[in-house]
Amino acid sequence: MKKSPRAGRQEIKASAPRIAHHPSLCAQNGESASTGVRAGVVENFRPGDHERVDQVLTGLRALGVADLRTMVSWADWDSAEGEAWYSWLLPHLANEVNLIPCVLYTPLSQAVAPRVSAPPWDPKAYGDFLDILITRLGHCFEWIELWNEPDQLSEWDRTLDPHWQTFSAMVGGAAYWAQRRGKRTILAGMNVYDPNWLELMFRRGVMQYIDAVGIHGFPGTYEASWESWTAVAQSVQQILTHHRSGAEIWISATGYSTWRHDEYEQLRAFTAALEAPVERVYWYSARDLDPDLSARDGFHADDREYHFGLHDHDGAPKLLARLWASGGLQAIWRALEPQPGAARRRPRPRPPVLITGGAGFIGTNLANRLAADGERVLIYDNLSRPGAERNLRWLLDTHGSRIQVEFADVRNPYALRRAVRKAKQVFHFAAQVAVTTSLANPRHDFEVNALGTLNLLEALRGSDDPAPLIYTSTNKVYGGLDDIALDCDNGAYRPNDAELCRRGINEARPLDLHSPYGCSKGAADEYIIDYARTFGLPAVVFRMSCIYGPHQMGNEDQGWVAHFLICALEGRPITVYGDGMQVRDVLYIDDLVRAFLLARSSVRTLSGSAFNIGGGPSNTLSLLELLKIIGKLNGALPRCELSDWRPGDQRYYVSDTRKFQSATGWRANVDPMEGVEKLHDWLRHARGLERIRPPTARPALHRRFASANGHALHDRG
Ligand SMILES: NC(=O)c1ccc[n+]([C@@H]2O[C@H](COP(=O)([O-])OP(=O)(O)OC[C@H]3O[C@@H](n4cnc5c(N)ncnc54)[C@H](O)[C@@H]3O)[C@@H](O)[C@H]2O)c1
Repeated sequence: MKKSPRAGRQEIKASAPRIAHHPSLCAQNGESASTGVRAGVVENFRPGDHERVDQVLTGLRALGVADLRTMVSWADWDSAEGEAWYSWLLPHLANEVNLIPCVLYTPLSQAVAPRVSAPPWDPKAYGDFLDILITRLGHCFEWIELWNEPDQLSEWDRTLDPHWQTFSAMVGGAAYWAQRRGKRTILAGMNVYDPNWLELMFRRGVMQYIDAVGIHGFPGTYEASWESWTAVAQSVQQILTHHRSGAEIWISATGYSTWRHDEYEQLRAFTAALEAPVERVYWYSARDLDPDLSARDGFHADDREYHFGLHDHDGAPKLLARLWASGGLQAIWRALEPQPGAARRRPRPRPPVLITGGAGFIGTNLANRLAADGERVLIYDNLSRPGAERNLRWLLDTHGSRIQVEFADVRNPYALRRAVRKAKQVFHFAAQVAVTTSLANPRHDFEVNALGTLNLLEALRGSDDPAPLIYTSTNKVYGGLDDIALDCDNGAYRPNDAELCRRGINEARPLDLHSPYGCSKGAADEYIIDYARTFGLPAVVFRMSCIYGPHQMGNEDQGWVAHFLICALEGRPITVYGDGMQVRDVLYIDDLVRAFLLARSSVRTLSGSAFNIGGGPSNTLSLLELLKIIGKLNGALPRCELSDWRPGDQRYYVSDTRKFQSATGWRANVDPMEGVEKLHDWLRHARGLERIRPPTARPALHRRFASANGHALHDRG
């Protein structure tokens, strides 16, 4: 055996390490179904950031991830609070996950230049530090990684060690000693893998003390040219085989920054890494960096640094995390399965109809109808709405190659331009759809709804022959409508102006944008009308009231008809905001799809107009009336809780649809009772439930809700 640089060092006898093998070591969620690769996460913490540590652990728990690689800064350990911090951090993490500490950064007191990336004066000092770490906290880990990305100047200033002399002495010695102390060792991964460097590590005698070689790569984010993970892993394997080394190969850091809002690409990058012939993959990172803090290369010097997380900075899961949590890695493979028929595309296919937000509720129904009629549909969606992936899967399974998909975001003008160039017609549905979410994050709402629409308009304006556009705006652009005097009629608001009651609200009503959502949708609505006027783009705007029907993923924030039905089916209580007497005209999705087709066939004559679209005065429903219908369908009124009014909630909105009717002859056919029943049936069917129809309502529940509201629930004749 070659003499180790640390061979003369006195061995410290320590108690045998107590490695806590986490029960979910082979956690189903953290192991790839198709390749058996073990998947973990890379996350680093700043001293004192206890809150973030717990947030990250909560996120990992939701994903079922049991492996975490984290940085231990030798320089920080040397500071006043450093040792105390790591003495809290490592056991705290090891309690929940299998921990890999990656140890780097030279304390300034020991560095040859005044920066933590500088080599230490004495290469042996690094091994000494590892020895202390293992003595104090070695019970928290089994493996230890020796430095990080030595090819990056911010991590290892190789200009001060041009021939890797210090590095190889330092890491070789530390690896030898770590093994002697019962640890398994990982050679630091280079960010751009260099086979010559690995050869050098063999020549310098480092590799005989290494149990796993780390490789890093961030294809799509940093790597300008990239062959594949397989190619990189094979190149490492060749060198290992040549030297008869049994070291494992791990991707010890990879990730994808969603700074361009392309969460689907993050998913793709993740699965590509899992397909590599390696033992483990560590995904950087659990959570986006705090935008108020400095990244490795400076404060927002490179915005990519801030968007690597599985969750965003506020903790909201990105697409990868959502799928991972909902079905483990199986769900991810399924999302990425090739589209049926993708391989047998025709050489010159007919141009498709482009539907932005096509995997959402309205988009799925329209796509289904168009594909059933033999048209090709290009769905442009970022799958940000939970459940959109199920809609998409259903469309692909039902229609095969007639459905093409572009997993992209409307905030990406380039991807949008590519999609628009192919299309013969555009339906623009992609949106941030909830008032509540817009109040929590107005910038996001603006960027998706207003800027996303402008991106689309600019893409169309740049086309030689712009495809006609139909856009779904909202009744919210008319504001709170507080000036309309209302009466209360059998548990539902009605205008006391008989004409308004008979006709509803027409397009002459001035816009009055309330809430960030109202503003962003209103801005998009007006931009579209203006692009028709100023640039002659053929474009029509639908200002829509409440739409409901199959494939709707209704939740408390949006899609109240479906949400109430879903809660009732799942036995969850429904929160009624306000007094429940709010009225909307509801429109069944099939009626809306017919309206789209009619608008499309007359788009050139209708261009530049906005139309109020809803069920109209003969298809209205208050919240209380819907509860009553659900009670009839289920045999019992759903459980309800009352809460305060939500900001901007209109007490009454009913569309006057005569303008569109007289232009196209359209009218709504499906009344609320019939439509709600159809949706109810679909929801039951989608959950694999038999239809039940108990004959009588439970009077106790009925009375409880009615008395809570100070009135009874009545049928409206
Ligand atoms: N459903 C209604 O009652 C109603 C009423 C008025 C207006 N609208 C409008 O109709 C449109 C469709 O509504 P829906 O009910 O089908 O909503 P939905 O949430 O079911 O569908 C929206 C789709 O857009 C996608 N999406 C969201 N942000 C995106 C982005 N940045 N880039 C690409 N795709 C993105 C989502 O993943 C989802 O599939 C929206 O513009 C909405 O404002 C709906």
